[in-house]
Amino acid sequence: MQKIKPTVSGMDIICAEQPAGATGIVIFGASGDLTVRKIIPGLFDLYRRDLMSGNFYILGCGRSQITDEQFQKTAAESIEDEDSDKIKSFAAKCHFLTGGYDDSALYEQLGMRIDKLNKLHKVDGNLIYYLSVPPPLYPVIVQKLHDADLSCRQDPQEKRKVRLIIEKPFGHDLDSARQLNSVIASCFDESQIYRIDHYLGKETVQNILIFRFANTIFEPVWNRNFIDNVQITIAESLGVGHRADYYDKSGALRDIFQNHMLQMLALVAMEPPASFEANCVRDEKAKLLESIRPLEIEPWSADIIKGQYTTGIIEGKSVPAYRDEEGVAPDSKTETFVAARLYIDNWRWKNVPFFVRTGKQLAAKNTEIAITFKQVPHSMFVEAGLDDLPANVLIMQIQPAEGISLQFQAKHPGSKLCVGTLDMNFHYSDIFGVKMPEAYSRLLLDAMLGDQTLFNRYDSVEIAWKLLDPVLKSWRDNPTDPDFYPAGAQSFAAADSLIESAGRKWRPIE
Ligand SMILES: NC(=O)c1ccc[n+]([C@@H]2O[C@H](COP(=O)([O-])OP(=O)(O)OC[C@H]3O[C@@H](n4cnc5c(N)ncnc54)[C@H](OP(=O)(O)O)[C@@H]3O)[C@@H](O)[C@H]2O)c1
Repeated sequence: MQKIKPTVSGMDIICAEQPAGATGIVIFGASGDLTVRKIIPGLFDLYRRDLMSGNFYILGCGRSQITDEQFQKTAAESIEDEDSDKIKSFAAKCHFLTGGYDDSALYEQLGMRIDKLNKLHKVDGNLIYYLSVPPPLYPVIVQKLHDADLSCRQDPQEKRKVRLIIEKPFGHDLDSARQLNSVIASCFDESQIYRIDHYLGKETVQNILIFRFANTIFEPVWNRNFIDNVQITIAESLGVGHRADYYDKSGALRDIFQNHMLQMLALVAMEPPASFEANCVRDEKAKLLESIRPLEIEPWSADIIKGQYTTGIIEGKSVPAYRDEEGVAPDSKTETFVAARLYIDNWRWKNVPFFVRTGKQLAAKNTEIAITFKQVPHSMFVEAGLDDLPANVLIMQIQPAEGISLQFQAKHPGSKLCVGTLDMNFHYSDIFGVKMPEAYSRLLLDAMLGDQTLFNRYDSVEIAWKLLDPVLKSWRDNPTDPDFYPAGAQSFAAADSLIESAGRKWRPIE
């Protein structure tokens, strides 16, 4: 392990970046969008930063008739970097195998090809299977890998070395997630399984844990005695793009809320784990998710509301209504926005509202966690007309820029007693001056190192679905239109009344 202690902008940094050993990476669905946009660039980033051994290979797999040369060309073209020699040597390690995912012959050939490539690239048995295919294909691939003796579940020596990365969405409700977990558990050991949620690979999301548990000043006030409410926003200013077909069957609740949103909430609210060991962190996350009070869905909009965008203007351009997007049903009731009020029934958080919202085609791209503290219990400045002092707000900014800011009150210079709100800001890019590492590279490295901390365990996936299943059932059984909001909106009446009925206001999306 390399231990370095450099100083950046007057800040002592202690970090430990461990490079991965020799690994073979088999990507199912390698002709797809995710492979080209995220997985290959993510792997190259590790290779460029010497965080991956030179002894590796990438074997793309799928139905497409693609030669090694064609795959190498696609891989090289997907990388943006000035070092063309590095790109060339990386691309030379890319190969392709064509076959149907349900065809046993593919897996026979895969076994032989892995043996050959292990020898060619001097990889000693370390192997990752990355399922980057549409979710209905997960069970068949997992089962076929096992049937062909490629999962190495039975071999306690090997199982530590053979790992399976599974993309989201993991199931579309509680039953399907349980079934998928059960198929996977019959073929792979849980210690081999890496359910990816790329939000957990983002620097600021990981920083929630450092911020909370590597400092002493925040944890004593991180509870119902000092915090008035927490708002989590994942706002996008884009529509469904090329994913309309998938999205129309999924909606915001399944696409973002069940995974990214609840995972971020768990990190903000969980109890301190005893160590940063994978299962300690995952135990605490699971306990927290289990403590979320079941959502009240009757009467209709007590705890959760849904919306869908109509035509509107974003950045001066007119955008079509969701129902007019290509691939979306003209009478679609799919929610492109969802907002909820959650409560965590435990000692720390009893009756503190967590307001969460996510939506497409909103006023701006903005992902943040805002912790609003309670107002001062008594203002000593009433005589000066300052009886309603604003509360302190701590904002963890996750997208587009990553950083942390704290709002507090300060005196305006002058002879009169004037108070204003100031922001104490920390921007990652200002301090570290580097491009933020891509979430995918971090997670790929962790999977190669066998570190499951930032990956979802089977239980937290199921607990999250258990919370949302009654909502999905209610929406399915009562198929009403969502509330409509114009593209480019900050908010709309139903979302506002959810929070205003609890005496709070949404933060602006900017
Ligand atoms: N793209 C993203 O931004 C994104 C973000 C988050 C999660 N994900 C998840 O990552 C996975 C891959 O995403 P993707 O966007 O790369 O998917 P994709 O482009 O739709 O599909 C990946 C590959 O799977 C194969 N495939 C597609 N449909 C198939 C079908 N009906 N039957 C058999 N094979 C089929 C195709 O390869 P062959 O024809 O060569 O077999 C295709 O190139 C999905 O689970 C998705 O939910 C993607």
